[in-house]
Amino acid sequence: MAEFYYYDETSDLPYTEDHNSGKVVTEKQLADLGVFYRHVETEEGVNKIAKERNYKNRDVISLSEETFPGGKEALSKQLDKFFEEHLHEDEEIRYILDGEGYFDVRDSNDRWIRAKIFKHDLLILPPGIFHRFTLSSTKYIKALRLFKDRPKWEAHFRSTPGTEDNIYRKNYLKAVKT
Ligand code: LAC
Ligand code: NI
Repeated sequence: MAEFYYYDETSDLPYTEDHNSGKVVTEKQLADLGVFYRHVETEEGVNKIAKERNYKNRDVISLSEETFPGGKEALSKQLDKFFEEHLHEDEEIRYILDGEGYFDVRDSNDRWIRAKIFKHDLLILPPGIFHRFTLSSTKYIKALRLFKDRPKWEAHFRSTPGTEDNIYRKNYLKAVKT
């Protein structure tokens, strides 16, 4: 089952460590940020949600030091990229099949909330939310990606001028304020 908490900014440990501040975040708090979470034990359960939300397509991604092209070092570079704060113009939907990972999302005060997700956790980030991803120290995850037609998976980095003005960002902020 997933764990949600505020990210401890004070620790110098690598971002692949827990960074658990001890300050718990509830599912309600996440829902208020537009983040959808369910623990779904069965494939039928996933299929049901996919149908309800009109996710017609899916694929499986797997990340590990053993299988990543270029090996350990290349994976580490990829993780640095995944950990750069960004948004998408589509939902980011991940159902964990094996392993574990962290999604960090910004709360409304721009503080990092960390979602540690495990096997059978389903997490959906809304378009426009600033987030980042990393593996845990186990360096292994296998996940189902669900999507509608042509997913807009392009990352719009917060450090890039103009990203704050992205219409999906603006619409997201409007949606969470009400
Ligand atoms: C993604 C993760 C890194 O966009 O957020 O695939
Ligand atoms: Ni992303």
